[in-house]
Amino acid sequence: MTKIAILGFGTVGSSVAKAVRILGIPGLEVSHIYNRDVARKRASAAAAHVGSDAIWTESIDDILHSDANIVAELVGGMDPAGSWIEAALKAGKSVVTANKQLIAYRGPELQKLAADNGVLLLHGAAVAGGVPVIPGILQGLQGDTITRISGILNGTCNYILSRMEAGDAYSDVLKDAQRLGYAEADPTADVGGFDARAKLCILARVAMHTELDPEQVATQTIADIDAVDFAYARELGCTIRQVSRAQAQGDGMYARVAPMLVPLQSPMAWSHGTQNMVVSTGAMGGDVVFSGHGAGGDATAVAVMSDLLAVAQGARCVSLPTVAKTVTGDSVAPHYLRFIVDDKPGIVSAISGALSKVGANIDSLLQRRGYPKHRLAFVVTTEPTLNSTIAQAIETIATLDCMLVRPLALEMLVVDDKDEETA
Ligand SMILES: NC(=O)c1ccc[n+]([C@@H]2O[C@H](COP(=O)([O-])OP(=O)(O)OC[C@H]3O[C@@H](n4cnc5c(N)ncnc54)[C@H](OP(=O)(O)O)[C@@H]3O)[C@@H](O)[C@H]2O)c1
Repeated sequence: MTKIAILGFGTVGSSVAKAVRILGIPGLEVSHIYNRDVARKRASAAAAHVGSDAIWTESIDDILHSDANIVAELVGGMDPAGSWIEAALKAGKSVVTANKQLIAYRGPELQKLAADNGVLLLHGAAVAGGVPVIPGILQGLQGDTITRISGILNGTCNYILSRMEAGDAYSDVLKDAQRLGYAEADPTADVGGFDARAKLCILARVAMHTELDPEQVATQTIADIDAVDFAYARELGCTIRQVSRAQAQGDGMYARVAPMLVPLQSPMAWSHGTQNMVVSTGAMGGDVVFSGHGAGGDATAVAVMSDLLAVAQGARCVSLPTVAKTVTGDSVAPHYLRFIVDDKPGIVSAISGALSKVGANIDSLLQRRGYPKHRLAFVVTTEPTLNSTIAQAIETIATLDCMLVRPLALEMLVVDDKDEETA
């Protein structure tokens, strides 16, 4: 009999209990539920999915000393979840978790602890919720040398940006996302790129055997994107998505999470709403695309359930060695620069002067009709240039008197035939 102790009977934990009941696999049962103030959880409608023999507790020691073979950690956060996982592994219990922050920062150390104790630590739900990216890479793509991972790893940002693409304003969409439970009251982790960067670091480890320090991965918020940017992006044959990318670059690794211009023919442009998408590029196999529901209790429970079954079926975990690499957010790419100005003569020459001073060449200048002169929005695109070089020019341009808001600089992804999308 495989007995599962669920830590955290929230959105995902309760859906996992439901999945166990619906699948009804003989020999697999939820034996324990741990949560603070557990009486409240036991009285909830979701408790109907839990068998009458299950033990509900608010003492973690009850779990650690129990006969449960697998602990499903679905509380989230670094601590106390991290200490509980450690204690469970030391107690000889395998652990399944959906906790991306913990796995991004402490994954290798916890994997070693699991191996030392002869148990497993699986985290297939930590990236892209119900989309089997991690098991897909581990089981289907280890035969390749993966050179790049790029994708849409945060469903909240994808929901916001794809609604803005359809004409809605950022502030309205964010409110809707919060009302629908897609975004937290404080949306910083999502819109600022911190949630996606944790997932990107996990994918770099799994796919490219590279350890990245999440704190070193550059992020850029989507909160500065405006409706005008979608209008100009469309003129350039693009849309805007929060893109997470990691790619081998010299001895190190380029990794960045930022809103970027994505060509309409790129698979990433097709991803709407809370969907996630990951494009894995292999030296031999080329591009493989994973896509589907990246969040939500039921979708995420599918990934957790698959890991629980893998443990129950006696999976063996073969972890390939990883190498720590320095990370840079700097790469050479064409850029989209958007300015909102109180129009005066000489602005374009001041901008082109600042760009040419750092060695950046203008590729095009776009000015749509209909914007008033006292708040004119126009765009310059550049030829491929380092992000840091563009940032230098932006510092100068931002000081011009006519600038009404800080100029926005976005990397532009470029599609080429050999290689689905490269910067
Ligand atoms: N939701 C998703 O779509 C999704 C997708 C992918 C991955 N994940 C990951 O899955 C994990 C769970 O997320 P969730 O959305 O299910 O969160 P959630 O709805 O907030 O559930 C967390 C549960 O843990 C309980 N809990 C929190 N802190 C606790 C503590 N210190 N002691 C005891 N119980 C505690 C909460 O109890 P209270 O009710 O008292 O707060 C709640 O029942 C997280 O790691 C998250 O990143 C979630």
